[in-house]
Amino acid sequence: MPELIPGLAGVPAAESAVSFIDGQKGLLAYRGHPIQVLAERSTFQEVAWLLLYGTLPKRAEFDGFREQLGTRREIPERMYDVIRALPGNGHPMDALQACMASLGMFSRHTDFRDASTADEAITRILAAMPVMVAAFDRIRGGEDVVPPRPELDTAANFLWMLTGEEPDELAARVLDVALILHADHTMNASTFAARVVASTEADPYTVVSSAIGALTGPLHGGANERVLDQLRDIGEAESVEAWVDGQVAAKKKIMGFGHRVYKVKDPRADILQGLAIDLFEKLGRTPLYDTAVTLEDEVVKRLGDKGIHPNVDFYSGIVYSKLQIPIDLFTPVFAMARTAGWLAHWREQMVDNKIFRPAQVYAGVHDAEYVPIDER
Ligand code: CMC
Repeated sequence: MPELIPGLAGVPAAESAVSFIDGQKGLLAYRGHPIQVLAERSTFQEVAWLLLYGTLPKRAEFDGFREQLGTRREIPERMYDVIRALPGNGHPMDALQACMASLGMFSRHTDFRDASTADEAITRILAAMPVMVAAFDRIRGGEDVVPPRPELDTAANFLWMLTGEEPDELAARVLDVALILHADHTMNASTFAARVVASTEADPYTVVSSAIGALTGPLHGGANERVLDQLRDIGEAESVEAWVDGQVAAKKKIMGFGHRVYKVKDPRADILQGLAIDLFEKLGRTPLYDTAVTLEDEVVKRLGDKGIHPNVDFYSGIVYSKLQIPIDLFTPVFAMARTAGWLAHWREQMVDNKIFRPAQVYAGVHDAEYVPIDER
C-alpha cells in the first residue's frame, strides 16, 4: 500500500517549465525571470505571453497579441443576458465561473489541438475575464455596462469598465503590477485543478471555469477578501497584540499568513506593500495599513519560527481597496491574472498528456452484508 501524503505536500504532480519557487529564499520566477524584474519592467500582457509561450515576445508578436486581447473584449451580446440572469447578491466568483462555462458554449471550435484554434481561445478567455467581472459588478449595481476600450491595457480597461471614468495612470500601473504578481505560482490548488481537468482533454473554457472554482476557497484565493475583513474586525493597531494572542491561543488561522511552499515572507507581499506605499503618497494613507504592519510584526514574532509570514493575499486587499475595487471583487481580480498561468499549464499539459488518475488508500469496510430496507 503506498504511503498517503495528505494534500500531496511535496509530491510532484507534473513537470513544468512555467514558474519556479524557492520557498526558503523567497524566490519566484516566471520562465526564469525573477518576479521583481517583471514587476518593475514588464506589463501583465507581456508576462501573459511569456508564461504562455515560454519567452519574452518580439515586438510583432506582442503587437498582434495585444491587438487581439483588445478586440476580443467584445464578448457575445447574449453573454450580457447570462450575466443579467445571475443573482446580483451572489458572489462574483460564482458568477465568473458560470460566465466562463457559458462563454465556452459560444465557442464554435472543438479541436483545441490545432495551434491557431488554441491561440484564439487563449486570447478570447484572457480578454473576456475582466470584461465579465466588470459587467457583473455594473449590472448588480443597476448601472449600464461600460463598453470595453480596445486601446487600453488589461488593468486600465478593467478600471475603466468598473467606473466609466478615465483610469488614473498610477492606479492602472499598480493594478497591472498586481496582475503580474498573481499570474502564476507553480502547482497551487487551482493550477492543479486546471491540469487535472486539462488532462481529460476538456476544452480550455471548462479548464478555466474549474480553476476559478478551486481558487474561490478561503485557504486559496478567497483569503484576500477575508484579510480586509480581518483588519476591519481588529480595528486600531493598538488592538493587534491582544487579538493575535487570542487567535494563537485558540489555534485559529490568521488570514494572509502562511504558505505551503514559502517559509519566509512571500516576495509578492513585499512588492504589494511597496505598491500600497506608492498609492498612499498620491491618495493618502489608509489607517488600516498601520494595523496590517503591526499585525505582521506580532504574527511573525509568535509564529515566524514555524515559517508563518505574510503571503501574497496580505497586502493585496489594501492595494485594491485604495483603487476603489469592491472587496468581493478581490478574488476575481486574482482570477483575471491567474488565467494566464492556468492557460499556460493547459498548453503544457496538452503536449504530453496523461490523464490524472491517482490511487487512494481505502479506509472503508469489505464484504458488507446487504440487508433489505425494512429489516435494517
Ligand atoms: N495562521 C496561524 N497558524 C498557521 C497559519 C496561519 N495563517 N498557517 C499555518 N499555520 C500553522 C498551522 O496551524 C499548523 O500548525 P501546527 O503544526 O501547530 O498544527 C502549521 O502552521 C502548518 O499549517 P498547515 O495549515 O498544515 O499548512 P499548509 O501548508 O497545509 O497550509 C495554507 C498552507 C496557506 C493553507 C495555510 O498557511 C493557511 O491556511 N493560511 C491562511 C489562509 C491564507 O492566507 N491563504 C492564502 C494562501 S497564499 C495565496 C493562495 O494560495 O491563494
